Amino acid sequence: MTTTAASPWQPDTWRQRPARQMPTYPDPAPLDAACAQLRQFPPLIFAGEVQALRAQLAEVAAGRAFLLQGGDCAESFDTLDGNAARETFRVMLQMAVVLTYAAARPVVKVGRIAGQYAKPRSADTETQGGVTLPSYRGDIVNGAGFTAAERAPDPARMLRAYSASAATLNLLRALAQGGFADLNQLHAWTTDFVRASPQGQRYAELAERIGESLAFMAAMGFNSSNTPQLREVSFHTSHEALLLPYEEALTRHVDHGLLGSAGGAPGWYATSAHMLWLGERTRQLDGAHIEYLRGIANPVGVKVGPTATPDEVLALLDALDPAREPGRVVLITRMGAGKLAERLPPLLAAVRDAGWPAIWSCDPMHGNTVSTAGGVKTRDFANIVQEVREFFAAHAQAGTVAGGLHVELTGQDVTECRGGGQNLTDERLAERYTTACDPRLNGSQSLELAFLVADLLKAGRRPGGESADKSSPPPAR
Ligand code: TRP
Ligand code: MN
Repeated sequence: MTTTAASPWQPDTWRQRPARQMPTYPDPAPLDAACAQLRQFPPLIFAGEVQALRAQLAEVAAGRAFLLQGGDCAESFDTLDGNAARETFRVMLQMAVVLTYAAARPVVKVGRIAGQYAKPRSADTETQGGVTLPSYRGDIVNGAGFTAAERAPDPARMLRAYSASAATLNLLRALAQGGFADLNQLHAWTTDFVRASPQGQRYAELAERIGESLAFMAAMGFNSSNTPQLREVSFHTSHEALLLPYEEALTRHVDHGLLGSAGGAPGWYATSAHMLWLGERTRQLDGAHIEYLRGIANPVGVKVGPTATPDEVLALLDALDPAREPGRVVLITRMGAGKLAERLPPLLAAVRDAGWPAIWSCDPMHGNTVSTAGGVKTRDFANIVQEVREFFAAHAQAGTVAGGLHVELTGQDVTECRGGGQNLTDERLAERYTTACDPRLNGSQSLELAFLVADLLKAGRRPGGESADKSSPPPAR
């Protein structure tokens, strides 16, 4: 269907295709020097972990697991003290517990973290008070401050992004394995501001029930010292694959002997993260970003907006997943509340009928971004909830799997999205609006959304629930 799939692939074949959203570096020499350095650095992840994630995602595609992907819109070099990463990890654990309990299936946990430093922009330049400068494209490219020095794209920032990613990933690995994620700690994951909220109450009740189950299991001889499943979580990293020179420099060929026990095929791996995704603005079929993504063995995501046609989506799948491997592609829909109900069903039907085992995940954030009267970017919690409901209803109708949730969140007590249990208003947005880019759900809003999705997953499981209450049975998958 596409010409790309036929031609040979190398980590740099993307250079022969038009690349959108790339900074213009003034001088090639420092760019080459930074890339040469990156090629000397160790991979951030191990190919066996990528294969393990692919196996987990294959379970999602089959409807036996649920994908939770979340984190900052953009990470920042200024908040590297570990608090931000720990709080994101903490709230994702809470959400995962809520979802696992309700769905009675494993939750695959993937952070938008440890590398989420590059941002696409609607314009190449920004003008303030008669001064025009390059747009801020994320800390891996330039600085957010509105000065010529800050906004000049600096390739050396790629080296800082690598170190920052390594430091964050190191902390996440420690938290995932060192006891922080032990199920016996689930009370301790609640922060004070969440504890006081209605979601905090609901979570405390759930924690109580799980605590009883754990006590029962301990009496049977299963505890966190002899059962690592209770003490550790598997947690993977992801970011938008935008800055291709960086991704190319960290792409490594992995031979048979270096794959580990998870198996999988030898080949090229992106080693900047376990999973990469493409945004709505860089997924042109003949573009550089698709060309790069098609050659790596990692699972890849693609954002799918409200204007995407069935043919476009099938062509994307053909380019990225010609072998139709379950767990390879995650289609991340971002359509907007009200639009999804109309735009998603034809896409679901097309992919279902063509027989692709793609995962559908719902990003209810990016189609619902608005500006307040005061010019602040925000999102209404009610619209986020509405889009998630429409997503589950569309899948129930099509007989397809509502496989995952993709959200911009932080565990911290920020005031960036309106509404939710705390009923945040426009006036209060300024109180703690700290995002480096788009507005995120705070800890309590994140938990509230998890409870909603938990209810939808539970309804899908019950006879008479959402996926069962329609006249004809779903087509067999
Ligand atoms: N290891 C299991 C998992 O990753 C169970 C688990 C341990 C867990 N700690 C957790 C699940 C914290 C969610 C949150 O799913
Ligand atoms: Mn965003």
